[in-house]
Amino acid sequence: MEMAAFETDLSLFKYDNLEQLPPEYRELEENERTERIESALDELGDDVVILGHNYQRREIVEHADFIGDSYQLSKEAAESDAEYVVFGGVTFMAESADIITDDDQSVILPSMEASCPMAGMAEALQVDAAWAELTAATDEEIIPITYMNSYADLKAFCAEQGGLVCTSSNAHKAFEYAFEKGDKVLFLPDKHLGENTAHRLGMADETVEWDPWDAEGTDAEAAVENDVILWEGYCQVHERFRTDHVEQVRADHPEANVIVHPECRREVVEAADRAGSTADICQTVANAEPGDTWAIGTEIHLTHHLQRWHPEVNVLPLCGDACMDCNAMRQIDPNYLAWVLEELVAGRERNVIEVAPEEKDLARVALDRMLEI
Ligand code: 13P
Ligand code: SF4
Repeated sequence: MEMAAFETDLSLFKYDNLEQLPPEYRELEENERTERIESALDELGDDVVILGHNYQRREIVEHADFIGDSYQLSKEAAESDAEYVVFGGVTFMAESADIITDDDQSVILPSMEASCPMAGMAEALQVDAAWAELTAATDEEIIPITYMNSYADLKAFCAEQGGLVCTSSNAHKAFEYAFEKGDKVLFLPDKHLGENTAHRLGMADETVEWDPWDAEGTDAEAAVENDVILWEGYCQVHERFRTDHVEQVRADHPEANVIVHPECRREVVEAADRAGSTADICQTVANAEPGDTWAIGTEIHLTHHLQRWHPEVNVLPLCGDACMDCNAMRQIDPNYLAWVLEELVAGRERNVIEVAPEEKDLARVALDRMLEI
């Protein structure tokens, strides 16, 4: 199969949307596109599986074989024996799928622009420097945990240092694993998920933020006085939610329950009735009684899916029109999906995500540790 080498270069992410597409795919109308996607899928049969993250657009999830959170999708990727895993998600998810699938399977990301800004907030070189400072400041053992929302080199680093990967649905278990093995946790890159997990485990007073961009910030000696060191990373979509939004929704809809993603700020999670991964949010709404009201504090596409999937439940976006979509997830335009599938039918693999072999084995150790907890 022909491979377009330049398309695997992750440094080439800065395109305007649709620019990477051959012109005939840029103007595709929805009806024609749907027909073409379906006919390509018919031709490819069991050779292809489509995974769709809960934040993907309707026009992507309607073609997905599996829809889920990043943990569920990584398990589906691991269990699939399809030759092509087409990932409706962002780069770190496709990288994880490449790490855990067999070498003869190809993972394809329809658009190479889909990269999560939070994953870019903890670069391996920066983490190496912080690690050197922190480990020099204490004799106690620090275990690094990285959220799935990180690149493969950071996952490999965590494995090398005795740590592991987690997702929002198993961060508490990753902490428990780490504290059985060591004395302290360095949690990367999402400070809010780290802080919310520390609270959940009764460690609220044992956290400190480590800001690699602030030379005047906490020094290593002071940081290691704490058991949980939180890297200064965050998700712009989830940081947007404030306690005011929770108060407003409760004032406007006194019957409403509020559920938020644990990437939200601590005080928002505290003000909500429940916090959970995107899979937990889906399950909570699926379990609701007809007529119940749930206000959702997460990416807006998922709120819209839930409104469509559960019309008997009153599903509201927690901050109304101010709720955001994820710019990275949105890059997976369905026209790209049509293109990569038709290219596969024509015998060409496009936008293949390949993790460097030297990182792959180690990153796999960190992911396997997660799948085992
Ligand atoms: P989940 O693991 O809950 O699907 O979340 C992934 C993510 O990127 C949330 O912003
Ligand atoms: Fe990254 Fe936030 Fe988008 Fe999730 S919602 S992929 S954390 S930017």
